[in-house]
Amino acid sequence: MPVAGEIAPLSVAEFRGFRDLILDEAGIYLKDSKRSLVESRLGRRLRSLGIESYGEYFQYVTRQPAASAERREMINCITTNKTDFFRENHHFEFVRDRLIPQARARAAAGESRKLRIWSAGCSTGEEPYSIAMTICEALGTDRSWDVRILASDVDTEVLAAAEQGIYDGERLERVPETVVRRHFLRNLDRSAFQVKEDLKSMIRFRRINLVEPAWPIRASFDAIFCRNVIIYFNQATQQRLFERLTGYLKPSGYLMVGHSENLQWLNAMLELVQSTIYRLRDGAR
Ligand SMILES: C[S@@+](CC[C@H](N)C(=O)[O-])C[C@H]1O[C@@H](n2cnc3c(N)ncnc32)[C@H](O)[C@@H]1O
Repeated sequence: MPVAGEIAPLSVAEFRGFRDLILDEAGIYLKDSKRSLVESRLGRRLRSLGIESYGEYFQYVTRQPAASAERREMINCITTNKTDFFRENHHFEFVRDRLIPQARARAAAGESRKLRIWSAGCSTGEEPYSIAMTICEALGTDRSWDVRILASDVDTEVLAAAEQGIYDGERLERVPETVVRRHFLRNLDRSAFQVKEDLKSMIRFRRINLVEPAWPIRASFDAIFCRNVIIYFNQATQQRLFERLTGYLKPSGYLMVGHSENLQWLNAMLELVQSTIYRLRDGAR
């Protein structure tokens, strides 16, 4: 028996209830081995709400319609948000060395000077800011380009941190000092760095749940970064997601995925350009 004020352990049946709910809400599939992870992550939420059992919390999050806000909080607790500036750096080198020169060549041939990039599953912002810095560094003083980056995540907490754009010094260790100086300001106590407004203004932050049937997006993109997001999705969800994402690529656009993610089942649609970088095959749409 749990002592008053203590939370009773998460039972197998309760875990399965949350697992199905989380799968339905965010596409995240939690294996049986994740029970203790779910217990500890949701436990924090239960404590902050003063709820003493997982069963009671389950009732709370499934009560319609007021429960939808709490379901977001529940998903915020469950997501894994590990990220880094210039993580899997070859994607940023590809933007600098291939994507931008190709866009420049198309502009010289009369196409618009627009770049649209989507960081889908942007976590705390390191990925979209790395994209923005890469583009700024590559375009230099050329201000004639209209560049917009969409940064989205299902987790409202990480999105708020991304939009704030404040990072500890050690998070920026992999960013060259000259680049840090150009794009960040030091806080007054010098403990942290704040993204400058110029860089931030290139990015729009939005909550987008990738497994929801409609996305509030009209643009098509020169590149979509969807990296290290699908690791917890089952194969059917992964496939549906990537089929949908390809519909948002420009014909010349690229799809970047995480190092362990393989889209071989989309071979008919996508061709591998470089490790983890894909483009639409000619005539695929
Ligand atoms: C491990 S982080 C990866 C961050 C970044 N893309 C990178 O590679 O460094 C995965 C992110 O995907 C987000 N995510 C998980 N399920 C999602 C969903 N259904 N819709 C949108 N984002 C989701 C998580 O909230 C998390 O911030």
